[in-house]
Parts: sequence; C-alpha cells; structure tokens
Amino acid sequence: MDLPEAIRNAKILIVDDTQVNVILLEAILSNSGYLDVTGVTDPRKVEAMHRERRYDLILLDIQMPHLDGFRVMEILSRDLCGDYLPVVVLTALNDRETRLRALEMGAKDFLTKPFEQSEVLHRIHNMLEVRMLYAERQRRNEILEERVRERTRDLEENWQETIRCLARAGEFRDNETGRHLLRMSKIAHRIALAIGLPDEQADIILAASCLHDLGKIGIPDRVLLKPGSFDDEEWAIMRSHVAIGCRILGEHPSPLLRTARTVILHHHEKWDGSGYPNGVKGEEISIEGRICAVSDVFDALTSERPYKKAWPVEKAVALLNEEAGRHFDPALIETFNLLLPEILAIRAANADDAES
Ligand code: C2E
Ligand code: SIN
Ligand code: SIN
Ligand code: FE
Ligand code: FE
Repeated sequence: MDLPEAIRNAKILIVDDTQVNVILLEAILSNSGYLDVTGVTDPRKVEAMHRERRYDLILLDIQMPHLDGFRVMEILSRDLCGDYLPVVVLTALNDRETRLRALEMGAKDFLTKPFEQSEVLHRIHNMLEVRMLYAERQRRNEILEERVRERTRDLEENWQETIRCLARAGEFRDNETGRHLLRMSKIAHRIALAIGLPDEQADIILAASCLHDLGKIGIPDRVLLKPGSFDDEEWAIMRSHVAIGCRILGEHPSPLLRTARTVILHHHEKWDGSGYPNGVKGEEISIEGRICAVSDVFDALTSERPYKKAWPVEKAVALLNEEAGRHFDPALIETFNLLLPEILAIRAANADDAES
C-alpha cells in the first residue's frame, strides 16, 4: 500500500501482554510501509513511553496483568492526551461489553482478535488520517493563537507608548526630560504594591499616574515658567491644569483612562479637604489620587523647577511627614517611610542627568 508521508511516519505503539500478538501486528504494519512501530508487553511502561514519544496511535489490549487496558486509558487521558485519546483497543470478537466500555472511555475504534490483515490496515489507516487532520488543526490553532498574542502585545506596547508621549507633552515645558514622570510613576507603582493593591491595578497606576499634569499643556508660559511666586490670578490659571487635563482626556470606559482621569482630578486634593479643585477629603479622594499626591510632591520637591531649586531628600521627607494627616493620607506616609530606601534607589536610577 502506498502511504502518504505523514501516515507512513506516524508513531505507533502496540501494547499486548501476549508477545505473539505484538509480533504479528508489528509485522503487518511494517510490511505495509509503516516506519515507526514499537511494541511493548508490559502495560506499566506505556505512561513513560507516551510521555516521551507522544504516539499518534496506541493499539491497546484490554486484559493484561498489572494494569488492564481500561486503567491504561485512564492514565493516558488524565494528563497525557488532552482531549484526543489516540487509542484503538484490541478485543475478542464476542466481547461486546468490553468494546462498549472502551468506546465510552474515549477509545477511537477497536480491532478484533484474531486479527484480519486487511481490516487491521484499513482501520489503522482511517484512524491515522483522522489523527493527522486533528493534529494539523491543533497546530493551526496554536499558530493563530500565537499571532493573536503577538498582536495584542504590540497593541499594548503602542498604547503605552502613546500614553507616555501624551504625558510627556504635558510636562515638556517646565520639565523637559520626562524623568519626573518616570520617577513619580514608579514610586506610585511601588507604593500601590506595598499597600496590597492587585498587580493589575498597580500596573494601571504606573501608566495612569504619568498623565497627572497633562493639563499643564494649556497653561501659558508666563505662568508656568514664571521664576517667582504667583499672584491670585496666576494661581487660578495654574489650578486650572486639573480641569484642562480632565477635558483633554474626556470620559472613557477603559480602566486605564478612567484611572488617569481620577488621578488628574485628585492629585492636588488634600487629606484634610484643603486641596483643589473640589476640596474633597480623606477617603473621598480615590486611592490612586492619594498615592499620586505623595509620589508627585516628593519628586517635585526634590527636583528643580523654573520657580524653585531642588530640595535635599531629608527636607522633602520631613515635609511629607509634617503633612501626614494634613496634605497626605497618613497611612501612605507610613508606607512611604518604610519604602524610602527603594524610593531613593528609583530616584538614583532615573536621575535627570542619567543616560536614557
Ligand atoms: P509641580 O512643580 O509639579 O509641583 C507639584 C506639587 O508639589 C505642588 O502642587 C506642591 O504641592 C508640591 N511642591 C512643589 N514645590 C514645592 C515647594 O517648593 N514647597 C512646597 N511646600 N510644596 C511644593 P501645587 O502647589 O498645587 O502646584 C502645582 C503646580 O503649580 C506646580 O507643579 C508648578 O508647576 C506650579 N507652581 C506652584 N507654585 C509655583 C510658583 O511659585 N511659581 C511657579 N512658576 N509655578 C508654581
Ligand atoms: C516618561 O517616560 O516620560 C513617562 C514615564 C513612564 O511611562 O513610565
Ligand atoms: C493630595 O494631597 O492632593 C491628596 C490627598 C492625600 O494625600 O491623601
Ligand atoms: Fe499637578
Ligand atoms: Fe507632577
């Protein structure tokens, strides 16, 4: 018989405690062109052999010492074969009950003893054709799934890059390197994890916090870049960066953009209610907003701005602690203090003059 290559090379295992049956089937298969046929008389070896070779077809006797064919099928279907059990059972001609049970357990077909050569070959050929179609379909599905995963990853990366560019636009004029965003977002992420927020939420905070000052894009240079302090009118203009940021972002259902919006809206609110724009207080301020207030102010204080020199770290830490319960959520300042060594490491690794 002329076998297609995939079928000729199919990996076939014969399991029968009666050696002569193994030899007979091996001979029938080899003589008609099958190239990869193995026989075994001890059913206890099947599990390890299949784990190693992943047979395309297992011809399985039922009545065997140590482990009957049903047990072997159970073991194979438990964790080795997924949803496709490539088993053909070998049964006596009149053993209808055994055949039914084997089919119920997932066997694909049966061969009756004594073997009849042309029936054996036809059934095995059919079974392998189905097997190969199934394997081909599996392979295609895996390729498709991998492509979908790749595309999703690309989209995700593009999306995050876009968010970063947008965020950088907001801070470009008073803070050209963008390192403030990098540091404050990493510090916010670290605090989020330390207080036990789930990884996904912390990741969202990492990205969303970069957008906190997006609205500075709408603040005129004469205010934003003023070297000195503000009069009332200038303060009013400056504070509008919150509303401008919210307007630029708009309202979207995505968790990232929704979080970005609360971060923008809340990052200048204060724990005691004396912040802006709405004077909300305590836990009315979203946890994301409270976290970003801490990381933003810490990094703003220790950075140079058009209107101020950078403060030494000790002075900034002292101010944060003085403001615990006034400006900041006191629990977050406790966390901040515990994390200080890590936060300083983030600062050092992302300093304004570091290589990018
Ligand atoms: P920013 O420079 O990113 O500062 C963010 C926040 O860090 C400030 O929010 C404030 O809470 C804290 N912070 C920064 N520097 C100091 C400081 O020297 N002392 C104290 N106690 N806190 C500081 P705030 O005050 O709502 O300011 C929002 C934004 O307004 C600032 O963002 C900055 O862009 C601008 N701004 C604030 N004050 C002045 C100023 O006197 N002159 C100019 N040109 N801009 C200012
Ligand atoms: C930036 O690189 O400017 C933003 C920080 C970040 O997305 O991690
Ligand atoms: C803020 O200070 O802007 C938010 C209030 C807080 O720190 O809990
Ligand atoms: Fe701000
Ligand atoms: Fe900031």
